[in-house]
Amino acid sequence: MALLSILRYPDPRLHTVARAVAQVDERIRRLVDDMLQTMYGSDGVGLAATQVDVHERVIVMDTSEQHDQPLVLINPEITWRSAEMALNEEGCLSVPQVYDRVERHASVIVRALDRAGRAFELDAQGLTAVCVQHEMDHLLGHVFVEYLSPLKRDRIRTRMLKKAREELRAR
Ligand code: NI
Repeated sequence: MALLSILRYPDPRLHTVARAVAQVDERIRRLVDDMLQTMYGSDGVGLAATQVDVHERVIVMDTSEQHDQPLVLINPEITWRSAEMALNEEGCLSVPQVYDRVERHASVIVRALDRAGRAFELDAQGLTAVCVQHEMDHLLGHVFVEYLSPLKRDRIRTRMLKKAREELRAR
């Protein structure tokens, strides 16, 4: 397994639309394992392949309290969305140290393939519902800060660019 580097907002590659995985083979399983290691290593609850610059429909998540229930979603599709909406604070490994509230469907049902290529259905509520919608947005090239006001988004963009410059100087 390997730690992958995570693209940081406002990297334009985060706006790439991922294509469907044609076959769940060894290459995809290696990607999944590397993504899980990268997510756990960064204390994240979810990671989309887009964030590691692989533009295929692969998501890993773990919203369990003990961080011991990895969830792999390949070619995920939402088949049902609740009418009820919920406002939750979100963060993102591609936008470190930024947290803000986003409104999403309170629950969703997602159909996907697992690491073995078997189809399954995920009935997602609470944090799992937030996470799966957030990660599926990444696969469509969307970052959660796009839901915030233009003013907030500009501030985040400026702050992220400043931080990237400082990190570059510190090397
Ligand atoms: Ni994210």
